[in-house]
Amino acid sequence: MADRTKEREPLWRDEFSVSKADERYVSRRQLAKFLTLGSIGMFAGNLWILGKSWLRKAPVYNRSAVAQAGEIPVGGVKLFQYPNPGEQCIMIRTAEDSYVAYSQKCTHLSCAVFYAREQNRLECPCHQGYFSVKDGSVLQGPPTRPLPRVVLERSGDQLIAIEMDSGA
Ligand code: FES
Repeated sequence: MADRTKEREPLWRDEFSVSKADERYVSRRQLAKFLTLGSIGMFAGNLWILGKSWLRKAPVYNRSAVAQAGEIPVGGVKLFQYPNPGEQCIMIRTAEDSYVAYSQKCTHLSCAVFYAREQNRLECPCHQGYFSVKDGSVLQGPPTRPLPRVVLERSGDQLIAIEMDSGA
């Protein structure tokens, strides 16, 4: 009869020889151990992320002529690629002598934004994310980060993209 009872017991009881009366205490101790180890692991992970962000090198941008001044009318747009081929950007001529440019990739899920002239804002058609033309900040919708801005410099008649400013 005693052998039958032993057969029904799970295997782990052979190696975990704590009587039932103490099981609650043990499980609490195990929980505390788990929480402590988990906290240490998360702390180490955060230190690793922090160290990695400190060691990250600042990106290097090339200067690139992206438009001629006056090439687009006031309120008009021009698409160009910067800083690398395939990275689409949108430039808007907001006034006679004022140009702004942003990455065309929405900061939510990367749909292409377009300029809505009547509303004077950049709109993402995927989830109605709206961005300010003035500074690329989020006006509405799910995006939480502004559009990365292309820093422009004027050199004679040329508009030169000199770097990206992600606003971080
Ligand atoms: S991808 Fe632009 S709002 Fe979602």
